[in-house]
Amino acid sequence: MPEVVLEQISKTYQGARGVRHQALTGIDFTVPSGEFAALLGPSGCGKSTTLRIVAGLERADGGDLRIGGRSVTRVPAAERGLAMVFQNYALFPHLSVAENILFGLRSRRVPRAERNARLAEAARQLRLTEQLDRRPAQLSGGQRQRVALGRALVSGAELVLMDEPLSNLDARLRADMRTELRELQQRLGLTVLYVTHDQVEAMTMADRVIVMREGGIDQIAAPEELYARPASVRVASFIGSPPMNLLDVRRDGTWLVLDGAEGDGDRVRIEAAGLLKGLPDELPEELVLGVRPEDLVPGPGELTLPAVRIRDELLGADRLIAFRVGTRTVQVRVRADEHRPGGDRLGARHTACHLFDRRTGARLDARRLVGATG
Ligand SMILES: Nc1ncnc2c1ncn2[C@@H]1O[C@H](COP(=O)(O)OP(=O)(O)OP(=O)(O)O)[C@@H](O)[C@H]1O
Ligand SMILES: [Mg+2]
Repeated sequence: MPEVVLEQISKTYQGARGVRHQALTGIDFTVPSGEFAALLGPSGCGKSTTLRIVAGLERADGGDLRIGGRSVTRVPAAERGLAMVFQNYALFPHLSVAENILFGLRSRRVPRAERNARLAEAARQLRLTEQLDRRPAQLSGGQRQRVALGRALVSGAELVLMDEPLSNLDARLRADMRTELRELQQRLGLTVLYVTHDQVEAMTMADRVIVMREGGIDQIAAPEELYARPASVRVASFIGSPPMNLLDVRRDGTWLVLDGAEGDGDRVRIEAAGLLKGLPDELPEELVLGVRPEDLVPGPGELTLPAVRIRDELLGADRLIAFRVGTRTVQVRVRADEHRPGGDRLGARHTACHLFDRRTGARLDARRLVGATG
């Protein structure tokens, strides 16, 4: 299976009236052979542009792109040995499912027996055997999406690129397809580059997540690592639902003082000698303290925040409790069947606390912060 390597890929679009738009700047990443990598980021950050450059549908202004060890910057799309699946499945309404799946092979003159064998195999894997004679209009959304996948499978391509392939499906089907796609990729050992703005998709399917923003890359990591050690405030606030609680704090010796609008008299001060121990001496004054909702418990802890309970929300198995800390609202997630006293404090273990430099947004690391969910 081919490995994909991007080195310093950049792309500028020529906009209206000669205004140039830098869509990608110095993109570097590798998708190792047989891995599932997800490009994750908000709308407009350059995910599709990156994918289209790998596909050969768009040309980079600079940088190198290698597929299976070969530089393909000047190789046309059709000769890159890859298949692409889009959000709108691009099925031909007047052709049957079988014809749609085989569409690409016909033009490539694959012998009929071979064609039929591949079709039967793909239909079996995608559970479309019963539907082969139908038209796309007679299929459900999930079945249509599987036809588009079938086309990628019969092409025999070992590298598959997908651009938001599940976003037209309803929530239930999307969850099913996530599992199916992942199983298929693993069974066939495909190399997959998958574009999504849905963190759940990226976190559940990918071996490695490439977090993008504004034409650049924020962090590349396995889902567990991304969750446990987000490299910046931005990644921390993007991954996890509800997102990590992030509090602006100011260092005052071994204390953290919550920055807010309140007067000096009722400033929230948090004892933090243990948390700050082991951090570099040149620690900045202005920090962001992050704790995930599931890492906070009512009552005191290694780190203790004064807090006032303001409301509850039941989310099936979990309960989300909002607390007021100073002027800020903090979310706490507990099991729904857990009956906890309201209390006036919230606690967290040191290893569950994340600290960031407020000016740069970068994660601050000390030995004791390593493996934050530890
Ligand atoms: N053909 C084009 N001409 C000019 N600008 C473009 C073109 N294609 C994309 N852009 C711009 O480049 C940037 C990146 O676009 P891209 O489609 O890669 O974003 P995306 O991350 O896929 O977003 P979405 O999640 O909305 O699909 C955007 O600002 C977009 O407006
Ligand atoms: Mg896109």
